[in-house]
Amino acid sequence: MFKGTEPFDTLGDWLRFAVSLFNREGLEFAQGTPHAGDEALALLKWALHLDEDLQPFMASRLTASEIAEVKALIARRVVEHVPLAYLTGEAWLGGQRFAVNEQVLIPRSYFVELIQGEPGLGAWLGLRKPKRILELCTGSGCLAILLSQRFPEALVSATDLSHDALDVAQHNIEEHHLAGRVELRQGDLFGAVEGERFDLIVANPPYEPSALCDDLSPELKHEPRLALDGGADGMDLVRRIVREARAHLTPQGVLTIELGGLRNVMTAEFPGVPFEWPVLADGSTAVCVIRAKDLPR
Ligand SMILES: C[S@@+](CC[C@H](N)C(=O)[O-])C[C@H]1O[C@@H](n2cnc3c(N)ncnc32)[C@H](O)[C@@H]1O
Repeated sequence: MFKGTEPFDTLGDWLRFAVSLFNREGLEFAQGTPHAGDEALALLKWALHLDEDLQPFMASRLTASEIAEVKALIARRVVEHVPLAYLTGEAWLGGQRFAVNEQVLIPRSYFVELIQGEPGLGAWLGLRKPKRILELCTGSGCLAILLSQRFPEALVSATDLSHDALDVAQHNIEEHHLAGRVELRQGDLFGAVEGERFDLIVANPPYEPSALCDDLSPELKHEPRLALDGGADGMDLVRRIVREARAHLTPQGVLTIELGGLRNVMTAEFPGVPFEWPVLADGSTAVCVIRAKDLPR
């Protein structure tokens, strides 16, 4: 793979080489960075401990140990298809850094738009400030943390089935100094919050159809199947959340679920239920919103 790279010694040489190699090898870029150029730049920044704009350093020569480090990362990215976030142990969402490992989905949820945007979820909450928020399926805890930052008066309860994911979420909550405001619960969906009610429920559950999970790119296969596989039609968890949410919402409460491309399946499954589908920045309608009073009993 590194044949012919012996003369390479500058940052610019290695950046150019990585971009060419990533493109040539047809890597997938769906987990945080949109294309080979961004991915190679992020890899080099991390390897060389450079936070700033790399442009002034393009002609700088790397040390032998830096070159060895860069080569090792490039090799794992290309040969094992390990997503960059798992190589570096970090991912970015909504301008915030989250620690990740292979026990959690790499943060990239559409919810960032509705949590940080204006009016975003405020369009459904009006002037009401949620006191209690439930984030189902929290993974790395990224959405619970963004929710807590957006609604500082709220107590955010975040749940997941996976103990390993909750360990990562705990670490992130501490890193973001939110230990008193975001609490974690382990359990199967609402099983973790029996008898409790919330003003807002946010869920990004696994929603890929199982057959599609068998056929994912090597990069996506590094992510936990528990985070992706939503059963035969992708709806296993979504269906349960819609049916059970009403019992866990306050009368003015709001439920919102991310479910990718399942809008038609959802509408067919729950005819007459008035889900709203905000149009997201990329033109998709991957998230639905519904008020407690409109949910099935
Ligand atoms: C799509 S990931 C979402 C992670 C995170 N909220 C995000 O947006 O990046 C789905 C999460 O659901 C969890 N999960 C899967 N089945 C579950 C269940 N039955 N009850 C609770 N959590 C579950 C997985 O462990 C995974 O962390």
